[in-house]
Amino acid sequence: MRTHYCGSVTESLIDDTVTLCGWVDRRRDHGGVIFLDMRDREGIVQVVFDPDTEEAFALADKVRSEYVLKITGRVRARDGATVNPAMATGKIEVLGKALELLSSAATPPFPLDAHHSVGEDVRLKYRYMDLRRPDMQKNLMMRARITSSVRRYLDEHGFLDIETPILTRATPEGARDYLVPSRTHAGSFFALPQSPQLFKQLLMVSGFDRYYQIARCFRDEDLRADRQPEFTQIDIETSFLEELDIMSLTEGMVRTLFKEQLDVELGEFSQMSWHEAMERYGSDKPDLRIPLELVSIDDLMASVDFKVFSGPAQDEAGRVAALKVSGGASLSRKEIDDYTKYVSIYGAKGLAWIKVNQLSAGVEGLQSPILKFMPDAVVEQLMTRLGAVDGDIIFFGADKRSVVNEALGALRLRVAEDLGLVQAGWAPLWVVDFPMFEDDGKGGLTPLHHPFTAPNCDVDALRADPAAALSRAYDMVLNGTEVGGGSIRIHQQDMQQAVFDILGIDAEESIEKFGFLLDALKYGAPPHGGLAFGLDRLVMLMVGGQSIRDVIAFPKTQSAACVMTDAPGQVAEQQLRDLSIRLRQSAVSAPESQ
Ligand code: AMO
Ligand code: AMP
Repeated sequence: MRTHYCGSVTESLIDDTVTLCGWVDRRRDHGGVIFLDMRDREGIVQVVFDPDTEEAFALADKVRSEYVLKITGRVRARDGATVNPAMATGKIEVLGKALELLSSAATPPFPLDAHHSVGEDVRLKYRYMDLRRPDMQKNLMMRARITSSVRRYLDEHGFLDIETPILTRATPEGARDYLVPSRTHAGSFFALPQSPQLFKQLLMVSGFDRYYQIARCFRDEDLRADRQPEFTQIDIETSFLEELDIMSLTEGMVRTLFKEQLDVELGEFSQMSWHEAMERYGSDKPDLRIPLELVSIDDLMASVDFKVFSGPAQDEAGRVAALKVSGGASLSRKEIDDYTKYVSIYGAKGLAWIKVNQLSAGVEGLQSPILKFMPDAVVEQLMTRLGAVDGDIIFFGADKRSVVNEALGALRLRVAEDLGLVQAGWAPLWVVDFPMFEDDGKGGLTPLHHPFTAPNCDVDALRADPAAALSRAYDMVLNGTEVGGGSIRIHQQDMQQAVFDILGIDAEESIEKFGFLLDALKYGAPPHGGLAFGLDRLVMLMVGGQSIRDVIAFPKTQSAACVMTDAPGQVAEQQLRDLSIRLRQSAVSAPESQ
């Protein structure tokens, strides 16, 4: 129907006749001349109708925002005064000769350029309208280019795209499963995959060697800006490669992606151990664009007369740490109170602080609610260790190690954001040497990654002291977001059995849940490992989005629902009968869940 996209009409087409199809972005009437801004996925162009072209002019007079039109006209240069440098097509306009109305439109539920003024629920209910916005169009077009670039890279490196089932058994990645009742096996359920983890490992056992898939994953977990119940991974698995090979291959993929799509050179990624990341940044996904660090001061605080500090300082499982913020001495009491409230979300029982007003005046030049508890000599050592200067504020956390890390780690991000301390640019890194397990809070252990991750020790050492074992896992972190994670896997049955034992998965349960994997490991499993990227997160970072919802065409709301299709929805009694399901009374009488 058309000869060009609206957004690609440029000066090179001056004096040519073009036919465009698209939506009316705006219609303006200027002293007998009608201007229509016509929009399609490539951009916007201005079309002018004057009364000489009577029929087209009459029709142009009737069209409204979001009508779909086909117009034919001649491209001409704009007069100097009317050139619009803010528009890609701002140097030209199209003099409309013919206009065909392809579709009229009711008044839009919200003006596209005023999307900020309506709640996200309205935008999601009318998502097909929201997606007409140029920002959303750019995001989804970038997403398509990214997947295409990723496929190209992986194809060139010998990877095979192989699909794995969506109707499957539970795959343990730490979240709740989405279940699908089976009609043909009454009372039994499929689970939607939390990731293709087990299938990709089995593909290695089958000899496919280098696999990838752009795979949909499903996790019933609490949602945040960077989590959706249904999301997409760039899922990768290889055989006969070690950690460093896999890291270098996938790092190369991300570097190529950034170069191709953003013309950004990411350079070589740095590596940091999990332990160092937790000590210095209180996080396993540190944002290295922020020049603030946690500093341990347990030794200085072990003997002060302030139990809140000396207790954790003397406790193996405790930590006392300081976070120095340049320029923070100007924070108000209210701002400090707000930060205190903020860290309490992470379990901190308080937030002690010292303002450094005038260091040369000694303790007199400091201001703080806790100075009275500390000998001057300790304060002096503290200032030296932190390299404090006038104008700084120092925040303190004292508690169990995990609480201090989480609280000060989160405070670090928040303060940096508030005070504009986040540096521009890209800060990629690998986090390595994770512990195999962490405390599950109930006296047992839970895998830090998933239970198929290989430890970096042998079976005997693992069984002897599982809590001390490190894994062969690696996470890729970009600007404080975990964009990908993976590991070398266990490829020997005795090691897999040892991990199940440590996790308290007994023989019966392990056979019931993972018998097929344990079997497969018996029949010649190659050493293998891989990684999965969160595609949505990667795209979000690359387009500068705030939430992964900005880069998913039809995302779910915070309560894991789709307000457009009204899913999840109730089903007919007969459908439930077919599935041998009877709902509990509480579910039947509850208002329709959102
Ligand atoms: P993991 O659970 O770390 O590993 O997931 C890999 C990556 O997927 C992204 N991600 C998510 N993105 C959006 N919404 C979610 N709910 C969500 N959950 C995870 C993250 C994360 O880094 N099978 C292993 C990978 C492997 O070992 O190869 C796995 O799924 O960016
Ligand atoms: P208090 O003597 O309880 O009033 O505490 C003195 C200061 O220490 C206040 O600024 C508290 O916010 C702070 N504080 C209390 N508990 C902690 C803690 N666990 N970690 C860091 N600061 C704390």
